[in-house]
Amino acid sequence: MRNPYLPYPVRIDEIITETEDKNLKTFKFVFMNPEDEKGFSYTPGQFAELSIAGKGEIPIGIASSPTEKGFVKFTVNKVGAVTGHLHYMSAGDTMGIRGPLGNWYPWEEMEGKNVVIIGGGFAFTTLRSSIIYMLHPDNRPRFRDITVVYGARTPGMLLYKDELAAWEKRDDIKMHITVDGTSDPEWKYNIGFVPAVTEKKITSAENAIAIVCGPPVMIRFTQPVLEKLGFPPERIILSLEMRMKCGIGKCGRCNIGEKYVCKDGPVFSLAQLKQLPPEY
Ligand SMILES: Cc1cc2nc3c(=O)[nH]c(=O)nc-3n(C[C@H](O)[C@H](O)[C@H](O)COP(=O)(O)OP(=O)(O)OC[C@H]3O[C@@H](n4cnc5c(N)ncnc54)[C@H](O)[C@@H]3O)c2cc1C
Ligand code: FES
Repeated sequence: MRNPYLPYPVRIDEIITETEDKNLKTFKFVFMNPEDEKGFSYTPGQFAELSIAGKGEIPIGIASSPTEKGFVKFTVNKVGAVTGHLHYMSAGDTMGIRGPLGNWYPWEEMEGKNVVIIGGGFAFTTLRSSIIYMLHPDNRPRFRDITVVYGARTPGMLLYKDELAAWEKRDDIKMHITVDGTSDPEWKYNIGFVPAVTEKKITSAENAIAIVCGPPVMIRFTQPVLEKLGFPPERIILSLEMRMKCGIGKCGRCNIGEKYVCKDGPVFSLAQLKQLPPEY
């Protein structure tokens, strides 16, 4: 068995600045040893530890989909020591990726159901992975209607703008993009917070499962909206971001009650979270 603490060496192939404040960048990595791509076999919803020698390791959700071959992508918000260093790195630089880690969205349970994806801010990363995965021609027939509510503070803070525009044009996914506010007269989508847009645009919970990923305040206000719409707690799926170190259930840094967010999560249903102490 491979040593779970050992990162795969990767090279930065491309860096895309996503947002107008330049604090969110997407890093496209290629494996230095092409056979490592098979070892890093992942499912949407999982995360990895990105490691920079002499700087440290950080848990980051996987933004690419396993249906995208030859690379793996992560979108990183510049907040501190390691993310700050990563933002100063360039295409061609080398570093490490350890994983894939954690569990994933409940893909088998989602089969044959309407899927509602609700995301806010930079937490949209693993939701991007999920949308690309579901829209792949091999997978699209497995799911019924796909509806997305995605919000950011301003138009310039939205991630993956080209992909959002492309998804808007498709008829096999329904997009509801929103911003908290804008003075842009050209803005043609919604204005309002994610919970309010969810309440307005999602009309039925019938045969549906909701996946929610965003800042805690968005989750706190979206949860009652979904419950009011009739989503039972076991069909509301959330992804948590706790402080982590080992990422494999050994160090005890990330636990909520008896659950390790890194190993038993980061994906939990609301029904599961209701059984745990309110430490998330
Ligand atoms: C499962 C999981 C998935 C994640 N996915 C992403 C992602 O896709 N993109 C992304 O940009 N970030 C993601 N994060 C958050 C990311 O791990 C932290 O922002 C990062 O570890 C900060 O490292 P740093 O050394 O730059 O910051 P530090 O110098 O350690 O700290 C800077 C600031 O960030 C805060 N911080 C540190 N660690 C975390 C953490 N784990 N969660 C929240 N706040 C933290 C600190 O309190 C401090 O305010 C994820 C976290 C988890 C657990
Ligand atoms: S990060 Fe070590 S147990 Fe979860």
